[in-house]
Amino acid sequence: MYVLAPSLLGADFSRLEEQIRAVDDAGAGYLHLDVMDGAFVPSISFGMPLIASIRKCTNMVFDVHMMVEEPGRYVADMKKAGADLICVHQEACVHLDRTINQIKEAGMKAGVALNPATPISVLDCVLDQVDMILIMSVNPGFGGQKFIPYALDKVRNLRQKLDEKGLHPDIQVDGGVTLDNARQLLEAGANILVAGSAVFKGDATANTRAFAEILKDYEAN
Ligand code: DX5
Ligand code: ZN
Repeated sequence: MYVLAPSLLGADFSRLEEQIRAVDDAGAGYLHLDVMDGAFVPSISFGMPLIASIRKCTNMVFDVHMMVEEPGRYVADMKKAGADLICVHQEACVHLDRTINQIKEAGMKAGVALNPATPISVLDCVLDQVDMILIMSVNPGFGGQKFIPYALDKVRNLRQKLDEKGLHPDIQVDGGVTLDNARQLLEAGANILVAGSAVFKGDATANTRAFAEILKDYEAN
């Protein structure tokens, strides 16, 4: 399964519904929703009320990227707001195992995100419990940053490790993803690409279609 997850953070918030429909109609499978608390990351974005409102606009999978300290506090509220998948940062959870289980028990998919400088080995004990691993390719907190090249090696190493163990969680990459580096990331083993600026700056429909074309090549192989 290869999926484009447009990051709503890159959208024009005065035209949210129109922009969501554009990426939905153009073939994006997930909608990536960046929740920031001003503590785990410097910025503040949006939370449950916005997610609950846009739930009426689309049936896309709501992929909630929690850039929040101790995100376990919000699992039930996020479920209620319409989240399908909650991705928490390893660095933000004292009891990561418990948080993963909380998300799954609430009936959602559980993902774990790693900051660029966090090694993949921190997930060794929970690899068989997670539905998705998010390799951050920028320091989280803002859209429009430059891709950090060593993230590519992390994706490659993670895919190899999962293959050796016979595990199949999704590998998502987020930050500085563009039409130019998408193939490299898929080649390295990623199967869900998050893109904010590369989708919403300019023509969101045309950009989504261009990503979808690339993903289709990989789906076919
Ligand atoms: C960054 C967020 C990203 C962001 C990506 O902290 O997690 O999802 O919106 O934006 P681009 O694709 O512009 O780097
Ligand atoms: Zn994100």
